Amino acid sequence: MAQVAQPEIIPITRQQRVGRPADPCTMVIFGAAGDLTRRKLIPALYNLAKNQLLSREFAIVGIARRPISTDDFRNKVSEDIKQFATDQVEPDIWEWFLRRMYYLSGDFGDKKLYPQLKELLDKVDKDHSSHGNHLYYMATSPDYFAPVVKQLALVGLMQENNGQWRRVIVEKPFGHDLETAKALNKQLLNVAGEQQIYRIDHYLGKETVQNILAFRFANGIFEPIWNRRYIDHIQISVAETVGVEQRGGYYDQAGALRDMVPNHIMQLISLTSMEPPISFRADAVRDEQAKILHAIQPMSSEEVLTKTVRGQYGPGVINGERVPGYREEQDVPPESRTETFVAMKLLIDNWRWADVPFYLRTGKRLPGRSTHVMIQFRRAPFVLFRDTPVENLMPNQLVLHIQPEEGISLRFAAKVPGPAMRLGAVDMNFEYEDYFGTQPSTGYERLLHDCMIGDATLFQRADMVEAGWCVVSPVLDVWKALPPRHFPNYATGSWGPKEAEDLLERDGRHWRNFEK
Ligand code: BG6
Repeated sequence: MAQVAQPEIIPITRQQRVGRPADPCTMVIFGAAGDLTRRKLIPALYNLAKNQLLSREFAIVGIARRPISTDDFRNKVSEDIKQFATDQVEPDIWEWFLRRMYYLSGDFGDKKLYPQLKELLDKVDKDHSSHGNHLYYMATSPDYFAPVVKQLALVGLMQENNGQWRRVIVEKPFGHDLETAKALNKQLLNVAGEQQIYRIDHYLGKETVQNILAFRFANGIFEPIWNRRYIDHIQISVAETVGVEQRGGYYDQAGALRDMVPNHIMQLISLTSMEPPISFRADAVRDEQAKILHAIQPMSSEEVLTKTVRGQYGPGVINGERVPGYREEQDVPPESRTETFVAMKLLIDNWRWADVPFYLRTGKRLPGRSTHVMIQFRRAPFVLFRDTPVENLMPNQLVLHIQPEEGISLRFAAKVPGPAMRLGAVDMNFEYEDYFGTQPSTGYERLLHDCMIGDATLFQRADMVEAGWCVVSPVLDVWKALPPRHFPNYATGSWGPKEAEDLLERDGRHWRNFEK
């Protein structure tokens, strides 16, 4: 590895300048026995505590159906953290953490639970001086999002009196389609203000996703060429090697399109293509993101047929191991028509992007894990190199590697040393790790902390969620009306169905694949 200079680090926000711990609060986790809680939320809260970013006046109330005591709950999370901590657990900090953790057993659908919760919160707020600020985290099945918030409101737990705040974090999936997303927004907004609702998208917790904004707007050299005059097209790929794992029940109802596109991929598109916001205030950033989502050309039914591709994986080999096809996965019906792969071509109707295709694809059981945004620039005019093999050279490509590689690379042509004028494509690479090392994290730390300080920049607003669904709605409708006939249509360990290649080849382009 090349020796790299220490970067100069410039704090941008007030929070970074003063290293502000979060506001005092009690965090209530609905779904405290679930996977999200043990894998992400508790390890993330622990990391915040370790980095002194939690208030000293903090407490947690976990709620789940299981009839166990607070002591049992504390023992359980102590076992879980051994498995899921991202770093060494320091006993003193963990002890501090455990002492402020409580458990309430109950059914989220049972109205009697909520007065009990209120009583417990009164006591916990007093014991830990958490000022009556509450963060409710919905780590539950989506059916409970609206009913739980309604019950909280009915017992007065959403009311913000005397400077207290009451906020709700809602997980994905946010609706099953446009109609259900609108209905959910409406139900939540009936009992809470928009400023109390934090719709989380864990992609926005990724450093490399946040860096798209820094890369574009903190540098003077990229923005002038970040438009249709210089950019040929943009590819966004979210490739996974895993299958549906134990989530067959949920996934078979959702499919790759719903699972990834209106949320994670729309975040990547909007951050890559939005106009510079006038500040980093939440609404300034989100207004620009929303404008892009609204500018994505809606597809007609005919366009859905030519501009989208769906696929489902069959059996095959991945990482040298034979694995079953989607239809053989646990909780998946043997005749399932659910897609595990989607590719599409979108256009953004505005001055900056008119006629620049955005190709996106995501799929499970692909040969490599890689999330990246690839910006391909127009070719140089080849006057000098006409009739030479340089015509076949790769054009300039800038790749924002989101994961697992974290970095940025730029591909350009260079002269191959020697007497003749020969050119080769070379890559200039920046890797985060070389400059900044690695900081173990779950990806939820920043988002939880932001919610506790009332910064909604990295959370989705109601209009953004609905705009995301608007883009995929016509596709869902056509796909529903015309069920796929050739599933499974790609083998595990391949880059998806052949039609995904054709989608670009028709335009004289190719996907750029990364696999390790
Ligand atoms: C989730 C999807 O939201 O994101 C999963 O439901 C997917 O199907 C996951 O695997 C991908 O997240 P990450 O952070 O691993 O890229």
